[in-house]
Amino acid sequence: MNTDNYYVTTPIYYVNDKPHIGHAYTTVLADVLARYHRSLGQSTFFLTGTDEHGQKVEKAAALRHMDNKAHCDETVVRFKELWQRLGITNDRFIRTTDEFHVKVVSEVLQELFDRDEIYKAEYTGWYCVGDERFFTEKDLVDGKCPECGRDVQEIRESNYFFRMGKYRDWLVDYIKTHPDFILPTFRANETLGFLKKELGDLCISRPKSRLAWGIELPFDRDYVCYVWFDALINYISGVGYKQNDDEFNRWWPASCHLIGKDILTTHSVYWPTMLKAMNVPMPRTIFAHGWWLTGNTKMSKSLGNVVNPMDMIDRCGVDAFRYFLMAEMSPGNDANFSEDGFVARYNSDLANDLGNLLSRVLKLTLRNRGGVIPQPGAFGDDEKELMAAVDNASPVMENSLASMKLDQGINAVMNAVRAANRYLEKTAPWSLAKQPDGAARLDTVLYCAAEALRQVSTLLLPVMPEKMAELRESLGFSPDEAKSAQIAELKSGAAGLAGRTMRDNNGLFPRIQTEEKSASAPARKVEKTVAPVDLIEIADFAKVKLVTAKIVSAEKAENSDKLLKLELDVAGSPRHIVSGIAEWYAPADLVGKTIVLVSNLKPAEIRGNRSEGMLLAAKKGKTLRLVTVDGDIPSGAIVG
Ligand code: MSP
Repeated sequence: MNTDNYYVTTPIYYVNDKPHIGHAYTTVLADVLARYHRSLGQSTFFLTGTDEHGQKVEKAAALRHMDNKAHCDETVVRFKELWQRLGITNDRFIRTTDEFHVKVVSEVLQELFDRDEIYKAEYTGWYCVGDERFFTEKDLVDGKCPECGRDVQEIRESNYFFRMGKYRDWLVDYIKTHPDFILPTFRANETLGFLKKELGDLCISRPKSRLAWGIELPFDRDYVCYVWFDALINYISGVGYKQNDDEFNRWWPASCHLIGKDILTTHSVYWPTMLKAMNVPMPRTIFAHGWWLTGNTKMSKSLGNVVNPMDMIDRCGVDAFRYFLMAEMSPGNDANFSEDGFVARYNSDLANDLGNLLSRVLKLTLRNRGGVIPQPGAFGDDEKELMAAVDNASPVMENSLASMKLDQGINAVMNAVRAANRYLEKTAPWSLAKQPDGAARLDTVLYCAAEALRQVSTLLLPVMPEKMAELRESLGFSPDEAKSAQIAELKSGAAGLAGRTMRDNNGLFPRIQTEEKSASAPARKVEKTVAPVDLIEIADFAKVKLVTAKIVSAEKAENSDKLLKLELDVAGSPRHIVSGIAEWYAPADLVGKTIVLVSNLKPAEIRGNRSEGMLLAAKKGKTLRLVTVDGDIPSGAIVG
């Protein structure tokens, strides 16, 4: 049995849904865990995939007049593309329509049927299409689905049942004697509360006359398997169950099934009893995380308040998004997603603290030591204090992995970053550089700050693989060394730092200008590299009304060095806008120019000035240029 290896899973996502931040969160969390365990030197397997059978998919395919499988083949791509974009390092992507999985489910069904763990009976129940689950009359809340509150349908038919109820006492005992089995502990208590009621048997079939899209029951061709019974088996079929014993024994039992709190019962009651009946050992931990909320409401497609991860990545970069997801949510609890919250965390943790630390060390080393990280002298109290803060981060991070409190581990690393910034302020290397006898001390200070960056970047590599590799390349590591740093080798790596030549970097985390954010401002990309954007329909583009506009007058806005107030002429009518371009254009240079204006933007109040539109400008690095037209054209002309 596997005890040393680490095997992590995500729920398999309904292939029908468009992935949103909730899906992205679970998958990034699993990826970060997998990367950490690899970094700690553990053999690791990471499984994710899609749940492709059932009524929802059948309905969606029918609406599109498509074959069910062809529909799945098309929609699964959204998940695969997003995971690629997010840098997800899953070892396998399982689809429940994969032939091997269908075969395993079929064999499990036959085996359980042969052992009388599955039987046929008449059934009356209430079915929720949204959750694909049956409920008894007494489960309903005000006649609606107890899980999601939607309408349920009454269904009466012959079906096959799994003898789940007989495992109730065993399961109660198992949960009580295995404190890490369901985490956080309050979720174990929730499950025990659920098990206080009588536990019925589980209906595991659907007559084909009602639903044909599923795995056929091998002992009755008129039925297909219930989608949850099929889906849960992915966790074992995905690692060789009934196909390759060596592979299966290597990875099973899973170390951690990551799930959202809404699918707790299926994982904490159905799945363990199914495994028990199959004589398969229990997973070590089922961890239920909270929800991402907007306001106080769950984000979900049906509520129309979802954050599209692709949009976030386009705007802020993959790693900043990964960092935010990991740092902002304390795994068991709910968290709120807001753009302001994102910008605040990005600017404080990444731009001000980490980005600034690198930029200081880089500039000082380039200016004073030709970029070469010096050999340190003896450590004094300041150095010892800094190194204590840095050394503390690694064990805290390891503990946070074990206790699934990743946000706390990240916080410990950020504390080390803050300690390094304080250290620089205290030791003032910029002054040491000017002192005739400051050279030796300057060497030590530069080395220690660089060493803090080396350790911090190793510890944050699983969270921000690209940006931390970039940081490490700035410290003089080769691209291969930069991305393959291991926490397990953190201590032994220190010797290799002095003597490396630092490489300039154009700013790891450029600050997001919050003033620009609300102003009719030029592009506010957070990162230098513009990632490929999500494709849009022509109708989406048509929503934006672009017109030519002539600048009639321009002046600096009061209370701001960055804003200009512009009066425009648009087909003979005056328009006033405020734009964050003062850094690049003097008011006098602008008058007479014909620019491109987003004319149907809702007016906004920017620092006390009303802005009725937004001009277009191109920005790269520190350069910004207005978008103008190629030759004479009257104002008010449509651009498109
Ligand atoms: N197909 C089932 C899982 C089968 S696993 C054997 C399913 N799929 S799902 O696509 O609807 O949801 C997958 C996961 O996304 C669930 O863990 C769910 O909790 C999570 N999230 C959906 N919305 C969420 C948020 N707003 N926030 C965080 N995660 C949430 O259920």
